[in-house]
Amino acid sequence: MMKLKQLFLTGLAATLLNVFAVAQTNNVITVKADKPYAEIQPTMWGVFFEDINLGADGGIYAELVKNRSFEFTKAMMGWKILGKPKTEGDFLVINRHEENTNNPRFLRTTLHNAAQRTIGLTNEGFRGMGIKKDLRYDFSALVRRKSGSIKLLIELANSKDEVIGKTTVNVEATNGEWKKITGSFTASATELKAKFNIWMEGDGETDFDMISLFPSDTWKGRPGGMRADMIQLLADMKPGFIRFPGGCIVEGFELTGRYQWKKTIGAIEERQLIINRWNTEFAHRLTPDYFQTFGLGFYEYFQLAEDIGAAPLPILNCGMACQFNSAEVVPMNQLDPYVQDALDLIEFANGAVTTQWGKVRADLGHPQPFNLKMMGVGNENWGPQYVERLQLFVKAIKAKYPDFKIVSSSGTDPNGERFDYLNGELRKMNADIIDEHYYRRPEWFLQNASRYDNYDRKGPKIFGGEYAAQSDKTVSVDNKNNWQTALAEAAFMTGMERNADVVTMASYAPLFAHVDGWQWTPDLIWVNNLTSYGTPNYHVQKMFAINKGTHAVSILSNGSTIAGKDSLYAAAAIDKTTGELILKFVNASATDITRNVAVEGIKKTAALAKQIVLTNQLNKVNSFDKPFEVAPVESDIAVKNKKLNLQLKPYSFTVIKVKL
Ligand code: AHR
Repeated sequence: MMKLKQLFLTGLAATLLNVFAVAQTNNVITVKADKPYAEIQPTMWGVFFEDINLGADGGIYAELVKNRSFEFTKAMMGWKILGKPKTEGDFLVINRHEENTNNPRFLRTTLHNAAQRTIGLTNEGFRGMGIKKDLRYDFSALVRRKSGSIKLLIELANSKDEVIGKTTVNVEATNGEWKKITGSFTASATELKAKFNIWMEGDGETDFDMISLFPSDTWKGRPGGMRADMIQLLADMKPGFIRFPGGCIVEGFELTGRYQWKKTIGAIEERQLIINRWNTEFAHRLTPDYFQTFGLGFYEYFQLAEDIGAAPLPILNCGMACQFNSAEVVPMNQLDPYVQDALDLIEFANGAVTTQWGKVRADLGHPQPFNLKMMGVGNENWGPQYVERLQLFVKAIKAKYPDFKIVSSSGTDPNGERFDYLNGELRKMNADIIDEHYYRRPEWFLQNASRYDNYDRKGPKIFGGEYAAQSDKTVSVDNKNNWQTALAEAAFMTGMERNADVVTMASYAPLFAHVDGWQWTPDLIWVNNLTSYGTPNYHVQKMFAINKGTHAVSILSNGSTIAGKDSLYAAAAIDKTTGELILKFVNASATDITRNVAVEGIKKTAALAKQIVLTNQLNKVNSFDKPFEVAPVESDIAVKNKKLNLQLKPYSFTVIKVKL
């Protein structure tokens, strides 16, 4: 009896020990820090800029005057006459199309011994003008007068019509030639929605064009430059690349409205304005005052890329207009100018100053090359029409620049007939880089964290060129940048990083949205006329980008990748330049997850690691009132004998950095 009891107890102890051992292994995550298996490209996490949601005009392009050259479809859109003209035609829009096709219109004003503050113009700005107390504002305009002079009283007014900044500028006779006049003043108050008045005193006829007002605190203090707060948010992300100028904006509604880079460089008064395709795209978000003035053009985009240390990635039209709209195509035998634009762009960016386009770049102020290494041909184009056009581009570009990389489109969706067809064709063509887009529900992102685990390791590289989890559905106005969407993206991004040998670039889309002028939501960064904030999705992007590492290393649980089992997702990298191990974990469940992490293959680690955690309830969003409702919090975590105790909060994204 005694023996039996003993046997039973020994058996029980053994079973318990076994159960404990299994539980222990289940709980252990192993990181092999000495076995990097893939290089993480410096380009891995980047940004995708498009002039949508008032991204450029009314956004990063800091011009405050809307319709400065009277070229909008309705010539006086954004402008009103102050006071009452004496006679018909005292304020006359003149169209000199034959003489100046790029900038045909200007405003002719005739005064009749006007006293000050009796007649003038007012501009409403882009949903008002954001004005900052004590900041200098710089006015300029092109003017023309035959003789005599008039006096302009330039002023900013707040919503109560109180003057919050002013100066006077004289317009002298210009002998009938166009001449630039300037004037600066300091604002006495901060105002979210100011307007801009130009009162005119004197007599006779004066022509006005390119009426402009810029804040002096632009990015890097460049006159006529970009809004510094918005660019700073980009710079803070240390993006590996910047894709520009879009998006559907590249394709145009029709081919005449496509983006043509050559028309966006040089003197701003000669950059021909076109309607922004997002102006009329959505009946539920019509934006009739949305145009592309190209004050921000390709030279400025290259300069921006250089400023923020990002590789430039221009996308060019492939001879097809947006297939959701007109779907116009250029006949194959007339594609040459499009291909030539691509070749010339490479020369513009990289060519010696002795080349035709290299000289243009040098004359614009940048003799050094911009070091362009890749270019996208087509945005979200699809079908055999795309493939045959792409082939012509590839042939011509590779013939002249064999090492140049071309990004090709896999269409609008990450699966389905269009995708399968293009994916097959592009792989047959040995495409360099395939651009995949995924606007999907958060669940899709969670379920697809292993998407790239089985991709051909020797095939084309993947660019996750546009993605964003949609809390409702694509193009719904109810989509929110809530924590649920950001967390799902983080889970998916661990899968991208784990497959860094295949995925070499990725960018969230769209990038910016103006709170009073957007067409598409969700967006990474929201702005009003004065301030901007990063969404939870922004913080996820930034945490990945600034904690990128140089090489992926394996992180396993029970010998398997960690891609959704028990709602846990993980990726690991080492940074050979800083000597760090970087671990990333997503807990997509409502409960804590506890694990032991064992780091293998290294001698020792520092005793304390840095832990950065983003967490909140799934429905939480950031806002102008609470810009950091969902924001990273840093703390220290102990590392003992190369092991750490992982405590992942519910619905959290955690980055841990261990000094090796
Ligand atoms: O990011 C918004 C739009 O979504 C892009 O312009 C287009 O490429 C995609 O359909």
